[in-house]
Amino acid sequence: MCGIVAYTGPRDVAPVLLDALRRLEYRGYDSAGLAVLQTEESAPSLTIVRAVGKLDNLAQAISASDLPGQTGIGHTRWATHGRPSEANAHPHRSGPLAIVHNGIIENHLELKQALRAEGVEFQSDTDTEIVAHLLHKHLSPHGPREDALREALRRTLREIRGAYALAVVCEQAPDFVLLAKNSSPLVLGIGRGETLATSDIPALLSYTRDVVFLEDGELAELRPSGVHIETLDGTLVQRRSRRIDWSPVQAEKGGYKHFMLKEIFEQPRAIEDTLRGRLDLESGSLVLNELGLDAETARGISRICFIACGTSYHASLLGRHYVEKYARIPAQTELGSEVRYRDPVFTKGDLVIAVSQSGETLDTLAALEEAKRHGARTIALTNVLESAIARAADSALYTHAGPEIGVASTKAFTTQLVAMLMLSLELGRLRGTLPAPELLALLHALLEAPGSLRTTLEAHEAVLSVARKWHQSQNFLFLGRGLEFPIALEGALKLKEISYAHAEGYAAGEMKHGPIALIDEKMPVIVLIPDDRTYEKTFSNLEEVRARDGRVIAVATEGDERVKGVADDVLYIPKVHEAIAPLITTIPLQLLAYYVADLRGTDVDQPRNLAKTVTVE
Ligand code: AGP
Repeated sequence: MCGIVAYTGPRDVAPVLLDALRRLEYRGYDSAGLAVLQTEESAPSLTIVRAVGKLDNLAQAISASDLPGQTGIGHTRWATHGRPSEANAHPHRSGPLAIVHNGIIENHLELKQALRAEGVEFQSDTDTEIVAHLLHKHLSPHGPREDALREALRRTLREIRGAYALAVVCEQAPDFVLLAKNSSPLVLGIGRGETLATSDIPALLSYTRDVVFLEDGELAELRPSGVHIETLDGTLVQRRSRRIDWSPVQAEKGGYKHFMLKEIFEQPRAIEDTLRGRLDLESGSLVLNELGLDAETARGISRICFIACGTSYHASLLGRHYVEKYARIPAQTELGSEVRYRDPVFTKGDLVIAVSQSGETLDTLAALEEAKRHGARTIALTNVLESAIARAADSALYTHAGPEIGVASTKAFTTQLVAMLMLSLELGRLRGTLPAPELLALLHALLEAPGSLRTTLEAHEAVLSVARKWHQSQNFLFLGRGLEFPIALEGALKLKEISYAHAEGYAAGEMKHGPIALIDEKMPVIVLIPDDRTYEKTFSNLEEVRARDGRVIAVATEGDERVKGVADDVLYIPKVHEAIAPLITTIPLQLLAYYVADLRGTDVDQPRNLAKTVTVE
């Protein structure tokens, strides 16, 4: 997830763009840049300044350049294709025009090959540069520049597939910015004699509080006098502006009280971004070319070992389920902080998958290095391009969750599950252990997952009322079986790390081997009991809790009336494919942890004693 900004009006544009980019810093950046349309001389010219790393580096680069001009575009990059570098930073230029882009162009490889065949030379590894060259290719030298640019953009958008929020400036079109949106956010700001466009509201608030949200499939134009919106086929769009009364800090959180809550609600988008371009329903396969897997390598894997810590460890416990079920490969999951001190045995037939949101966790990195020393093939499953773990592994499978600001991991967790499921399905396809009809059903289930998450998130009020009832309890027990056992562990971790209440996750079948002694009328027991193959067994556990005056909060599949008869509270989720259920059952637990912590008044985004990235042993 990157941040884009555009401005035209009476102000000196470079400081406006830099200020706006700073308001988007929470979206992450590993490089940044801007393009200014200079009209001082007789012939307007485009000046582009880019810098790797923090925005201060761009600010220094700008101060060193003379950049008069009132129209321009800017970008902070959260790299998904092409390592962080000045060459890969936006804006990207082709001929008289420059563009910035937030999103992923799915068919970028075929477009790049076609352009190369026409003699186009590329300066970067990004998918965005392809769009710049397509625009230039379609830009007619005849007629008014704004009309030619608009037609060139229409023709370009008909060729590309994927997600985009685009802003384009062109030397022959002063005081004019052309925009397009599909799936990635883009909001217009309407000021007095000036207009802006940005990825998110915080970047606008210093200039205006009157905004218009672009919808998918729409084009827009910025002029100092105002904005113009139409659909791709040229139909005019009349949309009233909205008045934003958030403070800048509130705006960075998208109006949510905490980053964690915003990131919980971002999960459908994060999963869509992680899936984007990777499911091929026509051929019934996955597109994970970055891993370099083929049938021979897949068949040569004798064992898979996941290595991770914390929430990523819980995700890896599910990864083990997926790999064994769909690829029929023996699998295990290890704690990064433990495996190194066990004098482990790794062999050449091992595939070691290091799972880490930050890609910097030292316990995980050190264990990965140990596995490499023993000759194992390694994959990094991480959310940060070019992170230490990504660089240490033979290849990397990236989640596209965007920067996760809240210390408690939420969207990184669910996108890790999606990535692991995709990898397991591809290994199963390559090894011939997963029949095509079953694989296709699972690909459809993955595509439907964001919708099921949205449905579950819509029931957040029900979770809040359960949190109000139980938030003063000192101890919580989470029970789950099979695919739900890791979710029980994760739910307990979420609750304890942000509310400071004691919470324990347990395999439901283990209750009778000890924890049942804890049960009494003061202890809320959260039981994960979706409609899956372990339902009956888990229902028995639930009844065991009730028989000892325990208090039960059940997470069950909608329509399950039987559970309602034995639980104090029931939080319902939609009926989904069994493999997807953990993605969904984790949502009420994330919300429960959040609301309990908020009711207890703790610092939800930065809980005591914790850090977002643990780079110590
Ligand atoms: C997650 O809620 C925790 N804050 C923590 O357990 C985290 O998952 C762990 O430190 C691993 O981090 P990583 O995924 O960046 O390696």
